[in-house]
Amino acid sequence: MNFEISDIDFERHSSAKRFIKRALINPLANYLPSGFLRGLLRLGKSELALANWTDPGGWKSMIISYTGKTPQIADRLLLAGGTMHMALRNRRRLSVKILADLIGHCSGKKARLLSLGAGTGQIIIDAMVRASRPSHATMVDLNYEALDYGRKLAHQSGLGDCVQYIVGDVRNVSDMLHDPPDIVVMLGICEYLTDAQIRSIAEAVANVMPTGSSVVFNSISPSHGTDRFFRRIFGLHMNYRTPENLQELIGKGGFQDFVSIPEPLGVYHVVVGQRSGNSDNQRYMSSDSRQSRNSIVTG
Ligand SMILES: C[S@@+](CC[C@H](N)C(=O)[O-])C[C@H]1O[C@@H](n2cnc3c(N)ncnc32)[C@H](O)[C@@H]1O
Repeated sequence: MNFEISDIDFERHSSAKRFIKRALINPLANYLPSGFLRGLLRLGKSELALANWTDPGGWKSMIISYTGKTPQIADRLLLAGGTMHMALRNRRRLSVKILADLIGHCSGKKARLLSLGAGTGQIIIDAMVRASRPSHATMVDLNYEALDYGRKLAHQSGLGDCVQYIVGDVRNVSDMLHDPPDIVVMLGICEYLTDAQIRSIAEAVANVMPTGSSVVFNSISPSHGTDRFFRRIFGLHMNYRTPENLQELIGKGGFQDFVSIPEPLGVYHVVVGQRSGNSDNQRYMSSDSRQSRNSIVTG
């Protein structure tokens, strides 16, 4: 499948800014004493830092990164110039375009999406609004507050009846596969999972997905240059993998024909794979195995 992305308005660094970041800003962020940097962020009332200290990489910090709207100067500097935040917004734009295209290509009456580690589900909602065909999404997240916030977003977008929410752990995904999804979305989640967990999730979803259905995920590279800062100051511990590493893991679960698209800062690739044709192991969940450990909240 081809994705036309030339019309996406991506964020980029000028070469001068790239040089200053490499030579000055990143080394300072990475090596100044952590107590000093934390103190500065506390003094500047950084909402981004507070969100990460409460829930590293959680849904609140994602909203701040995506919208870039915050009254605090410290946050404005981090959000406007921080490679990671710019790359996150690029990933959002790229993912929305890819997902809207995939929904448009689904052949059923309504495309069924399953978003694992959905957060507020903002990316999925944007894609559903933009797609040329109707769709239904199930959002899964450990965090009830994220889903509750997402429920309001879906209502505001006129999609209140098209979204279902599951408060649950994606590692138990086999409990959540009531309807075989056409598109499984794993954005912003693989970096918090082990290889074995990713592979086992891929196997579980592939077991119920029809041949030719899609999985969408992202890789993340440490090329943003501030991993040490994020670990020490925000408590964010991410597992970096190349698109190829992830394709291998998810491919073993039952997917193939991967298309990998980078955002221009080179931090994220968004990858799409297809459920392989060999569906010998494909089975639909028996009613017994559907007994859920998760609470389902409808729109
Ligand atoms: C970085 S955010 C990504 C949110 C959204 N997918 C996006 O790309 O905007 C990661 C989300 O995964 C959720 N999460 C992390 N581990 C999880 C798990 N084991 N099961 C379910 N959700 C999880 C967190 O609560 C958080 O909302």
